Amino acid sequence: MKDFIVLLLFCHVASPGKHSLKYFFTTSSGVKNFPDYVAVGLVDEVPAGYYDSISKTVEGKQDWTQKMFEDDPQHMEWYTQRCLLHQYDDKAQIDILKQQLNQTEGVHIFQRMSSCEWDDETGEVNGFVQYGYDGEDFLAFDLKTLTWIAPKQQAVITKHKWDRDRALSERSTYFITQQCPQFMKRYLDLGKSSLLRTELPSVSLLQKTPSSPVSCHATGFYPTRAMMFWRKDGEELYEDVEHEEILPNHDGSFQMSVDLNLSSVTPEDWRRYECVFYLSGAKNDIVTKLDKAVIRTNWGKTGILTLLCFFC
Ligand SMILES: *[C@@H]1O[C@H](CO)[C@@H](O)[C@H](O)[C@H]1NC(C)=O
Ligand SMILES: *[C@@H]1O[C@H](CO)[C@@H](O)[C@H](O)[C@H]1NC(C)=O
Repeated sequence: MKDFIVLLLFCHVASPGKHSLKYFFTTSSGVKNFPDYVAVGLVDEVPAGYYDSISKTVEGKQDWTQKMFEDDPQHMEWYTQRCLLHQYDDKAQIDILKQQLNQTEGVHIFQRMSSCEWDDETGEVNGFVQYGYDGEDFLAFDLKTLTWIAPKQQAVITKHKWDRDRALSERSTYFITQQCPQFMKRYLDLGKSSLLRTELPSVSLLQKTPSSPVSCHATGFYPTRAMMFWRKDGEELYEDVEHEEILPNHDGSFQMSVDLNLSSVTPEDWRRYECVFYLSGAKNDIVTKLDKAVIRTNWGKTGILTLLCFFC
């Protein structure tokens, strides 16, 4: 169950160069030993606040959020009220959907994802309000038309109902365009000593078998405003390249990898390739030349496989 939630939490890939504030609200029914309602707030992909229906209190997950809630108990109360309201609304929504879709029993999960992004170089702000049901996209708010987009037939009844709900549309618009960006800027300022730090990763080349793609793996970087790609003769490659998602490490840093399929490359040409890691705010990129001698392999040795599986 925990895995399921974590999976959904990280299905949105961070955009390099942008700051973000994201909220995930998960309401479930029929899941044993798990709170009916869990809310998480992330600033630049770092968990900053947490609430669940068992504790019924908002908890700061970082030093700066704890201090913020101490200094501004009204802000904490605002979150508590909002969570209580969502918990009630979303529980009711599950009941409505179960009835509409003729689902009598089993596990059901309703998720709200509200977020905004801010590009501190261009000043551009974007925001999203989306819902998911049972792990699939359910409805997404379209700020241009002030209506809801239903990717699946099962959401159409709800879409028509929500489209007529002016108050919901106004709340969603206000959240996306005003509240979320304001909160984000405030949090980035309050938490700047930790949120705006930069940590460079260690980068290594890994290969599972002699015919597998070569994986360029970076671990230990912060923030997620990072990019990694393969270059040939100085030009970024798009073909035969596979980007893996950015994942969190336990220590607050992140990792990612990008795989290059070399099956049609002759050994003489290997030296023309290199892996580049770019981190927003860092002075230099980390460039790793493709070289058989530095690839950490799996065959004939032990250790790396355990490492790889820990990450997957
Ligand atoms: C709802 O489920 C019941 C029992 O499984 C079934 O008999 C009925 O036909 C279903 N109704 C709809 C509208 O799918
Ligand atoms: C690598 O590319 C070759 C040929 O282009 C293809 O047959 C093979 O399936 C690819 N390997 C992977 C792991 O994608």
